[in-house]
Amino acid sequence: MKELIKKLTETYGPSGREERIREVIKGEIEGLADEMRVDVMGNLIALKRGSSPPAPPKLGGRGRKVMLAAHMDEIGIIVTHVDEKGFLRFARVGGVRPLALVGGRAVFADGTVGTFGLEKREPEEAKKVPGFDKLYLDVGAKDKESAPVGVGDIAGFQRPFAAQGDRLMAKSLDDRVGCAVLIQVMRDLESSPHDVYFVFSVQEEVGLRGAITSTYGIQPDLGISVDVTITGDTPEARTMAVSLGEGPAVKVKDGGMLAHPAVKNLLVETAEELGIPYQLEVLAGGTTDAMAIQVSRAGVPAGCLSIPCRYVHTPTEMVDHNDVLNAVKLFVALLSKPIELG
Ligand code: ZN
Ligand code: CO
Repeated sequence: MKELIKKLTETYGPSGREERIREVIKGEIEGLADEMRVDVMGNLIALKRGSSPPAPPKLGGRGRKVMLAAHMDEIGIIVTHVDEKGFLRFARVGGVRPLALVGGRAVFADGTVGTFGLEKREPEEAKKVPGFDKLYLDVGAKDKESAPVGVGDIAGFQRPFAAQGDRLMAKSLDDRVGCAVLIQVMRDLESSPHDVYFVFSVQEEVGLRGAITSTYGIQPDLGISVDVTITGDTPEARTMAVSLGEGPAVKVKDGGMLAHPAVKNLLVETAEELGIPYQLEVLAGGTTDAMAIQVSRAGVPAGCLSIPCRYVHTPTEMVDHNDVLNAVKLFVALLSKPIELG
């Protein structure tokens, strides 16, 4: 799957500008879905029909309407001002932090590249992390008129993918690695009793907005998001019982949701049946599309399978390939059999 992950992570697609990554994903799943559509918000929704029509178990139905969601968008910046000399000021799109920017590059939809610069600061102030007001983006323009991009243009990070053994480094592994899992599940899933909706959602990083509308439209019986979570296995890391390479993490709780116990158990039991490693995730802050899925309409049993990831929301995130492969295995097994949410 490394080639697929490379392709997805190197594609441009900050929140609100997912058209290019959507086309790349469309190309990857061509011919794998029974139906494919793009909704008003821009979510890409692919349906693989099940062999058993979805109906309540009471009526003898064995199939369910299952929704899997991974977000296509990535964090970035949006230009707010261009000065007379052609330097750009910007606001963040999603959870970008100033420390992750200085010295890095941004790339816009039209291919314009910029480097992040930092204003001169007094010695005392220079010891602190700079605020966004001290940062600017330099696209090499000589003046305002010649700046190739302007107010309202959105950029993502520019950073090539690298694989070192099982460790994969790239920008936007949050959540292109989740998109890669969904694509691979579509490829590997031979038959399922369930109607499975694969949702490649938009605007997760700015408030789960694509998941809100796509879930409302699909009305699933069950929803699971696939996203990254942080780890506690780096030097002086915050306490977190998740490590890279020790299996996908079954979410119990994060900053936005408590996973439905039956969905959590379903993921755990499936991992145990397969004999694949898994971890339990309790994340203090942050959330995923599953939060939006859970509170859609009158509520949907929802959970999340997380790919452990270091350096989330920096230009170089890191995951372990085995965690990704095990996540795919888990979903293929889960979707291949009837689901009882006890
Ligand atoms: Zn994410
Ligand atoms: Co994120």
